[in-house]
Amino acid sequence: MSLKENINLSKLPQHIAIIMDGNGRWAKQQGEQRIFGHENGVRSVRDTVEAAAELGVKYLTLYAFSTENWNRPQEEVIALMQLLVHTISAETKTLNENNIRLQAIGDLKSLPQDCFNELQEAMEKTKSNSRTTLVLALSYSSRWEIIDAVKRIAEKVTTNTLSPQNITEQTINEHLCTAGMPEPELMIRTSGEHRISNFLLWQLAYAELYFTDKLWPDFRKEDFYEAILDYQNRERRFGKTSEQLISK
Ligand code: FPP
Repeated sequence: MSLKENINLSKLPQHIAIIMDGNGRWAKQQGEQRIFGHENGVRSVRDTVEAAAELGVKYLTLYAFSTENWNRPQEEVIALMQLLVHTISAETKTLNENNIRLQAIGDLKSLPQDCFNELQEAMEKTKSNSRTTLVLALSYSSRWEIIDAVKRIAEKVTTNTLSPQNITEQTINEHLCTAGMPEPELMIRTSGEHRISNFLLWQLAYAELYFTDKLWPDFRKEDFYEAILDYQNRERRFGKTSEQLISK
């Protein structure tokens, strides 16, 4: 039986988040510049999105560019932005053919104008698709997102449209970039690093974390299936005991 056939479709995570890491190291292993790794990472993005849609995963969030990534050498930042613009525009047709909606989270206004425009256009063109939502985290960091949410909540308190006593988990959820999306149940990070790196800190509170040594450009459908199977073999207790879960 193949890995895919072993997946229990009734216990599929609704939302999977991925830290695509290791492009630079992969390129170095090939004796190439870092951008060569990012270019080859696009194939892995395609494979993973396709696998998620085929299985019926409702949300797939990819950490494509962090707020901290702006501090990388200027030529790498420019090349990455060009790659993003090019990939988004080249893939919009395929997203539509496969009924995949594109969304983005992050400080999108800080993106170069052409990247921002391309993104808006692709999101607009795919907005009615319903099979899977592909969420790109761009110029994203969780602390930025939380600060932004707190500012908007404070604004409502100042203008008396919200009372501090009425602030709940739901209030926070509604002010994050991910408002309306289910929380990720599985977070995958490639390249052997065991960190969350400022990614969806609030939303990953109960997520299962899966780490693989594979570098992102080597990540294929089979690796994605393996992560889901590993997730399905875990017991998610949400603070309860095993006995409580069995007697449910
Ligand atoms: C991390 O590897 C990867 C990134 C910062 C960028 C990921 C971007 C892509 C795969 C390009 C296309 C993406 C989309 C969604 C169209 P790294 O550079 O940190 O690798 P290292 O840790 O080995 O240096």
